[in-house]
Amino acid sequence: MDSTRYSNDITEVVEADRAHLWHHLIQHKQFETNDPRIIVEGKGMRVWDAKGKEFIDAVSGGVWTVNVGYGRETIAKAVYDQLIKMNYFANSAGSIPGSIFAKQLIEKMPGMSRVYYTNSGSEANEKAFKMIRQIAHKRYGGKKHKILFRDRDYHGGTLATMSAGGQDERVMQYGPLAPGFVRVPHCMEYRKQDGAPVENYGIWAANQIEEVILREGADTVGGLCLEPVTAGGGVITPPEGYWERVQEICKKYDVLLHIDEVVCGIGRTGTWFGYQHYGIKPDFVTMAKGVASGYAAIACCVTTEAVFDMFKDDAADPMNYFRDISTFGGCTAGPAAAIENMRIIEDEGLLANTVKMGDRALANLQALMDKHRVVGDVRGKGLFLGAELVVDRKTKEAVDEKRVQAVVADCMAQGVIIGATNRSVPGLNNTLCLSPALIATADDIDEITGAIDKALTRVFS
Ligand SMILES: Cc1ncc(COP(=O)(O)O)c(C=O)c1O
Repeated sequence: MDSTRYSNDITEVVEADRAHLWHHLIQHKQFETNDPRIIVEGKGMRVWDAKGKEFIDAVSGGVWTVNVGYGRETIAKAVYDQLIKMNYFANSAGSIPGSIFAKQLIEKMPGMSRVYYTNSGSEANEKAFKMIRQIAHKRYGGKKHKILFRDRDYHGGTLATMSAGGQDERVMQYGPLAPGFVRVPHCMEYRKQDGAPVENYGIWAANQIEEVILREGADTVGGLCLEPVTAGGGVITPPEGYWERVQEICKKYDVLLHIDEVVCGIGRTGTWFGYQHYGIKPDFVTMAKGVASGYAAIACCVTTEAVFDMFKDDAADPMNYFRDISTFGGCTAGPAAAIENMRIIEDEGLLANTVKMGDRALANLQALMDKHRVVGDVRGKGLFLGAELVVDRKTKEAVDEKRVQAVVADCMAQGVIIGATNRSVPGLNNTLCLSPALIATADDIDEITGAIDKALTRVFS
């Protein structure tokens, strides 16, 4: 800590936090009696809090973000050099890192072609929503404007993205929401809907989307926004056959497919993008968290050239372009950090490591399932995993949230930071979440799942 600007006494920091900070996602009453946690340092997979306690971070900065781990000097240096040279100009002009990163990103996304910079995942998603709306106005007299989203998915904290929010506890008390967003059923095989078949659940779940399109009228539906693997809604990996059928349905009804890769993007699942596991050809891909691993704020809304062309086909019309700006989409720190972040993932072979360590983590969780009856299901793709806790495997009744949080707290006390779904789906905030950095070693994975093993034993025996 720079002693010329801050007192070395951490109590000043804690008191300033307690007096003035409004933390994200937290009920603050507890801080009247407990100190807020302040993280002061990170290196690799580990972070240290203000009291000097060391933790292994199994959730990449709490919300699946720091994909390449902490303390990366080369990223800091790339950002420093860029900021000294040119920190900002509105993105109506280009920048050196903005252009270079766009080219490198598109090389990883065959079929995609244009990158629109913003500064948060919510904002990137809103850009796609706005583009879909504008296409509806330009081509369909405004009629084909509805955007479908899926039960249990999350797309952000702004009002439009909450209107596309499939996690009811996040949305409650913030209405009225924006019109024109319509929910489709989830595709979680472990908690199949009534009436779902024993076999071919994936096709059935995708067909539910078709039913919604037909009910609403295909001429009113412009877009479908989905997470490739649902994150905060319970780490839901798609059932077999689902994505192929989703793609067919979008094609059949001329519905633009928007994949929200805010969590899965840039390596989390072992491929550059989650959708690339399933042979999908999206019209929009949005990404944020891992793009620069949290070293700078950057998000992207990526489109195909066909989408882009629709915004430049009539240059004589002064309204015929995407009339949108994101001020901080012009910050050069984001793409400068993203270029180095991508280089690290490539040079250190982190996609392959993610597959290997993800397999190990899943196997370890499966072993926990054999040992602890409370683990009802384990799911995952790469280093993106969940373990759902249930009272009874037959009824699948969810474990009370307090006990799920007790497992998280026990791990924390052991020096292992894990996550759990919270304020998400009513009555189903019962999935432990893991998303360690892509640099995780076998020892790291074993340490994390070992802590969960001990915590489950203590909380449920
Ligand atoms: C799938 C998904 N989409 C969008 C967002 C919103 O991103 P941000 O918090 O950067 O606005 C999140 C955040 O957790 C997310 O998980």
